[in-house]
This record gives sequence, structure tokens and C-alpha cells, in this order.
Amino acid sequence: MAVDLLLGLQWGDEGKGKIVDVLTSKYNIIARFQGGPNAGHTLVFNGKKHVLHTIPSGIFHEDAINLVGNGVVIDPVIFKKELDKLDEQNVDYKKTLFISRKAHIILPTHRLLDAASEASKGKAKIGSTLKGIGPTYMDKTGRNGIRVGDLELADWKDKYRALADKHEAMIEFYNVELEYNLKELETEFFEAVSVLKSLKLIDSEEYIFQAQKENKTILAEGAQGSLLDIDFGTYPFVTSSNTTAAGACTGLGVAPNQIKDVFGIFKAYTTRVGSGPFPTELFDENGETMARVGHEFGATTGRPRRCGWLDLVALKYACQVNGVTQLMMMKADVLSGFETLKVCTAYNYQGDTITHLPYNIEEENVTPVYTDFKGWKADLTEMFEASQLPAELNDYIAFLEKELEIPITIVSVGPDRKQTIFR
Ligand code: IMP
Repeated sequence: MAVDLLLGLQWGDEGKGKIVDVLTSKYNIIARFQGGPNAGHTLVFNGKKHVLHTIPSGIFHEDAINLVGNGVVIDPVIFKKELDKLDEQNVDYKKTLFISRKAHIILPTHRLLDAASEASKGKAKIGSTLKGIGPTYMDKTGRNGIRVGDLELADWKDKYRALADKHEAMIEFYNVELEYNLKELETEFFEAVSVLKSLKLIDSEEYIFQAQKENKTILAEGAQGSLLDIDFGTYPFVTSSNTTAAGACTGLGVAPNQIKDVFGIFKAYTTRVGSGPFPTELFDENGETMARVGHEFGATTGRPRRCGWLDLVALKYACQVNGVTQLMMMKADVLSGFETLKVCTAYNYQGDTITHLPYNIEEENVTPVYTDFKGWKADLTEMFEASQLPAELNDYIAFLEKELEIPITIVSVGPDRKQTIFR
């Protein structure tokens, strides 16, 4: 059976967790393919909010297998905390949570290196979540990393020590103020490693291959968003993995010709957390309203998110890079009450009007060109059918579908599983 992909089309926080949770009943396996605890996937059901960082968003469905793929980086300490939360809620994950032996491990010193690197950058900092993501992927591509499978080998602690010592020397090199007690961090880390080792560690590419042969349905779950992709995002203000569709091939071992549907998730407006260019960013009342009504605070760091109008130039680019086949529009309810809505349909770029994403979208190079839409007053959060949606929202949706040439099959009108309108 072919594999479907679900990924974010903006700068992350599009609401992927909610949609994976909504779609899980259609799939046998939910597989995360990149990123790590920098992600915060929020799910709301039965009046309760759940935030997942590394564990796939299908974990609350008893029958689904949840796989953490080889492309993911795992912090055992954060992973253990996620498991503790699941234990509190009596979620039985022992038989349904699988971890790739080829996934890389985030060490305490990776986190420290992240902090030292950011501190040394001063104003030019990336705005990293400081979870050690960049340094861990650097060790992966530098061929120095420690993988989950290594934890089963007798000499892994020697390898650990050598790498941690090297990291400490690197931290010193940064010459920034950083207080830490590595002994304490290590006690917590080694405890968490033993929990990780007690889970089902597998050769996940083989598992995925056999599952496809057995006609199992598989949904690959992305983290972050396409504009944070290490290759196609707003470099260097990006994360350190391939968040786009190709990342699912390398992050799970799925062949490109096995991918069928690509679900692209986007917010009805745009948000960004951390540094980096954001052409449609708002610094006025409209931006404040989006932030307030949309509760725009990072699920992992709690940082306020920057808000702005929908950027169709960037969205089109993300659809192209990913080969999106279906779009899912999130947080439409947040736009209720605006007199006028704006959508950026082109950029003024170095004296020209362009409709593609150029190399450089910093403020000094790009000014957005907007198309206005009439807003709607109705509260959408109590609507459950497409026929209930206001005409102005339907016009907004129809315009996006025409421009992007891709159907919008889901409109989300609130955080709860139930607040999901299928079209
Ligand atoms: P890092 O991945 O923690 O190194 O952060 C790099 C950049 O990606 C920063 O701007 C972060 O704010 C952003 N980022 C990382 N993960 C997420 C996410 O899950 N949602 C939104 N932004 C993220």
C-alpha cells in the first residue's frame, strides 16, 4: 500500500498534530520522519489538551502503530517525560510505540552546544528552541552521532564519553557564559536512556517495507514547516532537517514512487516563531488580534508567535516543493470578525512584481502586494458542516483553491477533534 504524507506548509505550528489525530483512524501506522523535541504537536479531545514533542500524534488511538523514524532526533529525557504523561493518562503505548534503531540521540551536551552557539551569535541568533537539534544533526552528518541502536552495544558509554568530552571543549571554544552541571544532566540522561531501551527498538525501514507489502496504511507525519526546511526554507533561519516531502523518503526509508497523497497543512493566516524574514508580518492591531484569538504561543517554548496575513507566494512555493495533493486550512475561526482580510499574491522585488519565492525575502528586498477580501462576522467554532460556512469564507477558500490549483478538503474551525469540517 502506498504511503500518505502530512506536512506543514508554513513556518511550523500549522496544526499538524490535530489533523494527524483526526485522520489516524484511517491508518494502521503513523510514522514521524524528521525533527525532534523542537516540535510541539497539540491535540485536543474530550475537553483536554495534549502536547506531543517526539511521539507521533496517533498515540491516543489504541489500534494505531506509532513509529519514530530514523530521520528523527530523540532526547531520551524529553521522551521519558512524554511517556510519563501518557502513563498518567493510562495510554498503553508498550505494544504500539516503535523506535527506529537508526534515529540519532540528543545528548545533554548537544543542548548545551545549542545554547552556546546561539549565545555567541548575539543579534544574529536563529531563535532556536535550544533542544539541541542543530548540534545533533551536525553530528549525524559529520558521522559522529550516537544512534538508538548503539545503546544496545556494550561500548556505547565509551563512545558517549568521547563525544561529550569533545562537546565540552567546543562549548569552551564559544567563550560564552553558560552555567551547567554535566554530572546532574548525565544522571537524568542515563536514567532516561534505560527507559528508552525498554521500548520496542526496530529496524524501521524493514518494518515499513513489510508493512507496505502487507497492504497496511501508513501516514508519514512531518514536523515544523516547509519554510523551515534546511534546503528550501529561509536559510539560515531554519531547522536542521528536511521538513519537506523528500524528508519522508530519507527519514523513513520510503521509496519516492510509494508516496501517494501529500496533505499540506496551512493556517488561514501566517505565524512564525523565532528569528528570520516574514514578509507579511503585522505589527498592528490586526496582528495582535490574530495572536490573542489564535493563542499564538509556541507549544514547546511558550514564546509568542509573530503573526501576519496569508502569504500565497510562499504557500504556492511550498505546494510545489512538496507536490501537495490536498490542502487543509487551519484556524479559519481566528479570522472571524475582521472587516477586511488580505492575502499576499505577489512581491515587489527589486523593482519588479514577482509571484515566485526569490532567494532573498528580507524586508529590504521584498514588499508584499495584497488582494483584499471581505471578512465575515459569524463565529465558526460551532459549525460542523461545509454548508454552514459563511459566503465570504467560501470566497476566500475558492480564491486559494483557484490560485493553488489544489482542493482544500478540510477546514478546521477550532482546536477540538470535532471542530473539523470536511469538504
Ligand atoms: P531549532 O529547530 O530548535 O534549531 O530552531 C530553528 C528555528 O526553527 C527557530 O526559528 C525555531 O523557532 C523554529 N522551529 C523549530 N521547531 C519548530 C516548530 O515545531 N514550530 C515552529 N517553529 C519551530
